This record gives sequence, structure tokens and C-alpha cells, in this order.
Amino acid sequence: MRALLVQPQITPLTGTVEVPGDKSISHRAVILAAIADGQSVIRNWLPAGDTLATLDCMRALGVPIETRGDGFSWELTVDGRGLRGLRRPAVPLDCRNAGTCIRLLAGLLAGQSFSSVLDGSAQLRRRPMRRVCQPLRLMGGNIQDHDGRAPLTIEPAPLRGLEYRMEVASAQVKSALLLAGLYAEGETRIHQPATTRDHTERMLQAMGLAVYQADNWIILPADTRKLAPLDIIIPGDISSAAFPLVAAAIVPHSQVTMANVGVNETRTGLLELLAAMGGRCQVSQSRLSGDEPVADLTMGFDELHSTEAGGDLVVRAIDELPVWAVAASQAAGVSVVRDAAELRVKEVDRISLLATELRRMGVVVEERPDGFTIAGPVRLRGAEVDCHGDHRLGMALAVAGLAADSPTLIRDAACIADSFPGFAETLRALGARTEWLDTSHPHPNPLPQRARGQTPPLSLGERGGRG
Ligand code: S3P
Repeated sequence: MRALLVQPQITPLTGTVEVPGDKSISHRAVILAAIADGQSVIRNWLPAGDTLATLDCMRALGVPIETRGDGFSWELTVDGRGLRGLRRPAVPLDCRNAGTCIRLLAGLLAGQSFSSVLDGSAQLRRRPMRRVCQPLRLMGGNIQDHDGRAPLTIEPAPLRGLEYRMEVASAQVKSALLLAGLYAEGETRIHQPATTRDHTERMLQAMGLAVYQADNWIILPADTRKLAPLDIIIPGDISSAAFPLVAAAIVPHSQVTMANVGVNETRTGLLELLAAMGGRCQVSQSRLSGDEPVADLTMGFDELHSTEAGGDLVVRAIDELPVWAVAASQAAGVSVVRDAAELRVKEVDRISLLATELRRMGVVVEERPDGFTIAGPVRLRGAEVDCHGDHRLGMALAVAGLAADSPTLIRDAACIADSFPGFAETLRALGARTEWLDTSHPHPNPLPQRARGQTPPLSLGERGGRG
């Protein structure tokens, strides 16, 4: 077991750093390159727990993939097998903790001429899969689930195009249907109730397909014959950059620059939320890297005030809401998130466990069925907290720890590498004092007495504010 110890940040965070490649794009790149005609080269690919699960699955499907490791930025050479060249896997495919891996592969495998089984960790087996299995069945897919969950058993079946209105705004479901659509007879039309990340559409376009969007319908034309190989550089992950950016916003006198970050507007909800709170985020060096917009983001400390998030904006900031909650705890007034019930079916119930763990640090949080409210500003207290195997909860708690008045110990934090290997090192490069501890053996508790165990929440009248 690994725990992350975070010391209170008494000096400003400063400097320029890069974060590893985008997780969503890394999953898609290795999957689509595998079924392209010819060799793809993918640079700045993210070697994280989740994406490595996808890479291993594609290898198990018979795709030769060479990797050249350079720390947390890999170069992949993928020998695309063509649309019909995948091979029956000898064993169940292990998607580990990765929702994107299992849902996208469900779409890809539904159209193959062989059977396969998709499975994953105990955490993944708790997550809803009906949202993807049900429309795939409407396309003719033969998929068996376990009470709407993994493992998923897929048998070969001919697919037909579908016109489908998604109930939840999910890029994973949309992408699964687009992947299945590559194997279907006829056109595939998918309606999204709100704008979701569009990396799959952009990548398919780059590979020569005339996929397009009209209003909130995504349309994949019939009769895909082949995909051209990719030659791309994956931008830094804005969902990882979010943590140092919020840290800079709440640690006095900080200013940090995150270089080469993907700023696809389906992903930049957090920047809008921080701006609405009075945060200063400058976007510079805006450019295109292949089909994805990229920029440098500079964030400085500022007095923040509360804001509200709902609707489309929540979808465009869904993975950043845990760390945004930490910013909200330092903002004057009551911040509100609604329309975010999806947070309850992420790696963990991110509403309930975020509230539980942030309360240990003195944050005044109220849960709602579809979100939460946070009253700020509060004086954050160092505490012993647990991230329950959820990478983004772990990193949000670490950011809170930087602004706390005493050290914070985050238990069960190895999962941070599911999306952001090098997280602690990146914070250290900006001046933070973070340290990994091995907690599998008994050791003296590194925290002062007051910070251990459950800290009772402060009442509104007791709030201290930053300083
Ligand atoms: C992702 C889509 C989102 C997001 C997840 C990654 C993707 O999930 O929360 O971290 O890569 O498509 P949903 O599609 O379930 O909204």
C-alpha cells in the first residue's frame, strides 16, 4: 500500500511544467490505430494504469505494438491490422479500473467475427454497463452482462446502423456506438443530450472518415472500408493539469504554467468555472496539434468567490469537479454543483466520498442527489484521508493538503497512477513537498496527533478562511 504525504505549502508554487498525455485520446489512439490499414506512430502516449490496460487488450487481440518509453511520455508504433484483422483473444480481456477501456472495447468487439469476454477489477465490476450494452443490442450485438455490469460476454453477430438518443451525456457510450458503427450495415446516428468530448470523431476524421455533427446528432456514414493510419502527438491532459492549476489558484502568491495542454472546448469547463470565480487563467501559444487544439495555461493565486455549475458546463468539467470542489472551499460564498449525478457512477461515488473526505479536512459540504454545495472560505486542516482507489479523489485531496495548516496523509493513493503517473513529482517541480510512503508495514504515523482520524466538520460560524 502506498500513501502520499503532502506538507502544507508555505512558499508559492511557481514554474512551468508539462503533464502527461491525454488519457481519453491515448485510449482512442491505440484502439483506432489497431484497426487502421498500416503503421501508426503515436507520440506522447500516456503510460498510465488505465491506458496500459487498453494497450494490453489490443495486444491480446493480436495487434503488434512497439513502445519506446521516455518517462511518462511514450512513443507507440502500432501495426494496424485493418478493420477485419483482429484475432480472437485467448483469455478474458482485463480492463482493470478503466471505464473507457471496457466501454469502447464493447463497441469494437460487438462487430467482430469472434467471441470475447471483457472484465476488470472489482471497482470496474461495480460500474454501469447497460448504457452501452443496450444500444449495442439494438444494433444487433450479442452481449451478455451480469445484472448490467461486467464481465461482458460478446458473441459474433451482424450489426446494423442505428438512430439512437443517449439517455446520459456520455462520450464513452457515443464512442462505443461509433466503433460498432464501423462494422454495421447502414448509417449510425447518435444524439447526445449535452456536448460530450469529441476526440473519437476528430480522430476518425483524421483517419479519413466523413463523420460529422449536425445539432447534437453525430452521424457516421455507412460502409467504412478502411481507416488511414495515425501520425499524432497527443496533447497534455487538461484533466491532469487541473490539479496544479487549482493548487496555484489557492496557494498564496503562486503562479504556474502548464505547457502543451489540450484545450478542446469539450474539456475546458474547469477553466470557465475558475474564471467565473475570479481566477486568473491565461491561455497562450494556442495552436493545433493534429486535430486537437493545444495551449499553455498560466494560473495565479487570487481571491476567489463562489459560483454555480450545471447543465452543459458540468459535462465539460465532469472529471475536474473533485478538484474544483477544493477551489470552492477557498472561495467566498456558497458554490453549487447540480446536474452531476454521473459523479456517483465514476470510479467511486464521487459525491459521497468527496464529501466524506473533504469534511475530514474541515470543508463544509452538503451532498445533493445530483451534486453538492460547498460553503467557503474555510481554513483547511491537514488530516488522514483515503482516496478509496479513486485517482482523481486522491489528487484533489493532495491539492487540498497543499493549502492546509498541517500535513495530510492520503491513504491508498497508488491509484493516482491510473491517470497521472508522476503526479507527486510534478507538484515537487513546482515547489511542493510531497512524499510517497510505503504503508504496508507498521510505521510511526507521520502526522501530528490532531490531524489523525475523523476531523469534525466546522459549523459555518467557525469558518476560518485562508491564511
Ligand atoms: C471519458 C468520458 C467521460 C469521462 C471519463 C473519460 C472518455 O465519461 O468522465 O473519465 O474518455 O470518453 P462518460 O463517457 O461516462 O461521461
